[in-house]
Amino acid sequence: MDFKENVVVLTGASTGIGEALAHKLAEQGAWLVLAARNAQKLEVVATECRKRGGRAVVVATDVTDETECRELVERAVAEYGRIDTLINNAGLSMWMKLEDVEDLGSLEYLMRVNFFGSMYCTYYALPYLKQSKGRIVAVASVAARTGIPTRTGYAASKHAMVGFFESLRIEVEDDGISVTIAFPDFVASGMHTRSLGADGKPLGHNPLQVDKIMTSEECARRIVEGAAARKRQIVMSNRSRFGQWLKLIAPGRVDRIAKKAIEKGR
Ligand SMILES: NC(=O)c1ccc[n+]([C@@H]2O[C@H](COP(=O)([O-])OP(=O)(O)OC[C@H]3O[C@@H](n4cnc5c(N)ncnc54)[C@H](OP(=O)(O)O)[C@@H]3O)[C@@H](O)[C@H]2O)c1
Repeated sequence: MDFKENVVVLTGASTGIGEALAHKLAEQGAWLVLAARNAQKLEVVATECRKRGGRAVVVATDVTDETECRELVERAVAEYGRIDTLINNAGLSMWMKLEDVEDLGSLEYLMRVNFFGSMYCTYYALPYLKQSKGRIVAVASVAARTGIPTRTGYAASKHAMVGFFESLRIEVEDDGISVTIAFPDFVASGMHTRSLGADGKPLGHNPLQVDKIMTSEECARRIVEGAAARKRQIVMSNRSRFGQWLKLIAPGRVDRIAKKAIEKGR
């Protein structure tokens, strides 16, 4: 019950891994601030969190808007008086080769959601996390450590997150703040259906073998456990654990593994 009465600001809480994180944290008695754009979906998640033993407030937030991120933090402090944990989970993916991209604005937008959104929330929450000697969690991806075809902009945004949070970890260590970076492999959620296609619109279908990949619940369980233990990183699949080492001696093989994973959808 590491998160009992722990004030957690959670972005991307309306569905997928974020929703599962909210449920798990609520079961431990966390005091949640649930953020995403879809307030209706957030209200449903909040009701479920209260049933599971947590407290929850909803703050409709578009993380690409710096002001809204500042207001999210202010609302959390107004509601609970402090922030103990910030989980930067809101994210968006893509499924297109660079040569097929019709509008480069799609790739810029991915950067704004995945990287700038995390940066804004973290910047404004930092003074409060210092006071609480709190936790920062960044939900990155295997694409944050290695290249993945059809994911140029997504991988770039996730690599950017890692550079940012690994640097910040050193800056805030003496303040007692921990920074945990999660590297999920493929996870079953609506993210792949919502991934931007070549025309910049959601793909509309999920090319992955959903029954062969990790569930959002399992992914959330591992993130909560890793954050509780203030781990540096949470690597979620054998191939990404193995890939970290293989990349040092045979990077071409890691590229082939990534290519095959996209082709097979698992
Ligand atoms: N699923 C995977 O295979 C996988 C693998 C590795 C890493 N990840 C990472 O895990 C995190 C969660 O992904 P997921 O699979 O749960 O995806 P998801 O089911 O698509 O959920 C994404 C969440 O982010 C929110 N979001 C998107 N754009 C936003 C914006 N501009 N402002 C605020 N919130 C926004 C969405 O809510 P609204 O639409 O209501 O705003 C939703 O709650 C992401 O960072 C993703 O990159 C996922």
